[in-house]
Amino acid sequence: MSLKNPAALEFLLSRRSRPAKTLIAPAPTRDQLLPLLTAAARSPDHGKLEPWRFVVLEKKSMPRLAELTEIRGRALGKTPEEIAKARNQFDMGHLAVAVVEVQKPSDKVPAIEQTYSAGAVCLALLNAALAAGWGANWLSGWQTHDRNFCKDALGLDAHERIAGLIHIATEGATPPERPRPDVEALTEWVSE
Ligand SMILES: Cc1cc2nc3c(=O)[nH]c(=O)nc-3n(C[C@H](O)[C@H](O)[C@H](O)COP(=O)(O)O)c2cc1C
Repeated sequence: MSLKNPAALEFLLSRRSRPAKTLIAPAPTRDQLLPLLTAAARSPDHGKLEPWRFVVLEKKSMPRLAELTEIRGRALGKTPEEIAKARNQFDMGHLAVAVVEVQKPSDKVPAIEQTYSAGAVCLALLNAALAAGWGANWLSGWQTHDRNFCKDALGLDAHERIAGLIHIATEGATPPERPRPDVEALTEWVSE
């Protein structure tokens, strides 16, 4: 079978995120989300370590996550603006998948490669959601890097961290295209 897939290439050449704040209901159901998670899990993974897992944050969990962001923000001395911005993704969120990097002990695969694999899973999930017709956006925030938040909000262990929160719901507005990198300026050709 030929690997040629012009539709997939066309998608990759034109894909773009939809800002989380423009997403509206409905979000995918569990049945609709599972194939997207399956596509995301089909990502490069040196040594087949599976150094990631998913925590699906459904609508009903959002107020709790916003509240925990508020509590951690105050404890960390964040400004009201920093707290408001960070909790906004939960106040306005419909569904988000936390892609959790799970470091696995390995003599062969360096930790950084497991981190790269988790990042690849984030992009694969984002792209699968977009290709399925959902609006989607990869977000983070100071709280996603805060160990206490990760533990209290998602129950993460010490060897786990949030690689990304992939918000997925219905597109509410098509964003203007943003400037894209000058690929030729970023590319070096080595020929000898
Ligand atoms: C690791 C990571 C974390 C990000 N965190 C945020 C964030 O917290 N807030 C935000 O507005 N954009 C964030 N972004 C950028 C958004 O995902 C942005 O919408 C995206 O770069 C648009 O790119 P695209 O249109 O090519 O998909 C993040 C991107 C990455 C890769």
